[in-house]
Amino acid sequence: MAAALDPSRTVDIADLRELAQRRLPRVVFDYIDGGAEAERTLRENCRVFDDVTFRPRGAVSFLKIDLQTTVLGQTFALPFLLAPIGSSRMFYPKAEVHAARAAGEAGTGYILSTLSGCRLEDVKAATRGPAWYQVYLVGGREVAERAIARAKDAGYSALVVTVDTPVAGMRARDVRNGTNALLSGNPIAMAPHVSQIVTRPRWLAGFLGDGGLMQFPNVVLADGPMKYESVGPALMQSVVTWADLKWIRKVWGGPIVVKGILIGDDARRAADEGADAVIVSNHGGRQLDSVASGLRALPEVLEAANGRIEVLMDGGIRRGSDIVKAMCLGAKAVLVGRAYAYGLGAAGGAGVARAIEILETDVRRTLTLLGAPGVNALTRDMIDVPENWR
Ligand code: GLV
Repeated sequence: MAAALDPSRTVDIADLRELAQRRLPRVVFDYIDGGAEAERTLRENCRVFDDVTFRPRGAVSFLKIDLQTTVLGQTFALPFLLAPIGSSRMFYPKAEVHAARAAGEAGTGYILSTLSGCRLEDVKAATRGPAWYQVYLVGGREVAERAIARAKDAGYSALVVTVDTPVAGMRARDVRNGTNALLSGNPIAMAPHVSQIVTRPRWLAGFLGDGGLMQFPNVVLADGPMKYESVGPALMQSVVTWADLKWIRKVWGGPIVVKGILIGDDARRAADEGADAVIVSNHGGRQLDSVASGLRALPEVLEAANGRIEVLMDGGIRRGSDIVKAMCLGAKAVLVGRAYAYGLGAAGGAGVARAIEILETDVRRTLTLLGAPGVNALTRDMIDVPENWR
């Protein structure tokens, strides 16, 4: 068992982040915590929630607060799903399995990234909740097609197609921390960067016990699973276009969710191309910097979707009140990424369970204080937004 820090005393997601920082080497923590270029969008994703204020109803009381939500006809006990996060297995041994299990135990969904360190079948088998599979075209169409077929066989209930990653964003923290040098295997290149690893013995013991550097068992190339150090170049050749969506629909045959939509025209296009839902997302501020926050982009996308497809959002969710604000604006549900990744980094499955518990408790309390009986009762007139949002 990889030694973990005790998440039970954490009060909020910021506490989990601090625990993760204590357990993880800087190169791993910053991979989770950092964003692209000047990190403007990364910061704005969180800050934007300050601009939205609640308009609570007093003197009301409800016996039960209903958090259940339905997306693509699937029922989720909570209004948030766990977002796909590549390389999770670098945060904690078999992390994807632990995260999926924690999501399922809470009755909510887990979205597995193509860039997972665990076999998609093992991840699906670990959860009682719905699981969706996220596709990148790393390795080309045939490689993706095989993964999609496996995801179908394993029982994944939606395919998430990410469209904002024609090339990896420039994450300055990763460059400064020597990510590529550490992956090079060249002792001379690695030497200036190894101190951040040896000073994190708890993480290192878990990493070595889990077999060392992960591979990508769902990206099976001619010579076997894709190696970790190939991910950068592979991502650069994995651009998804609208033309790809057609064959993806054909080979998958189930519900499709397009992730990474920020403007109304793309939401209309996704609907025209047969998507069932879109996720308003800037990839956690990790791709193009200086794009709008997820929350700020949401109204335009909702208007364009015009009820034809379901609209989810992600970006900057650190509190239950953030989830409630996004849903007041009209999101069907949200995805949380870093909020649970910090939990994984701090303590594996127990950390994810704690992150979910924190957010669930927050949402329940926020709805009670707002005077709303459930997430389906949230409306636009329960919040105020700045004049220039209208
Ligand atoms: C991969 O999708 C990443 O954001 O690192």
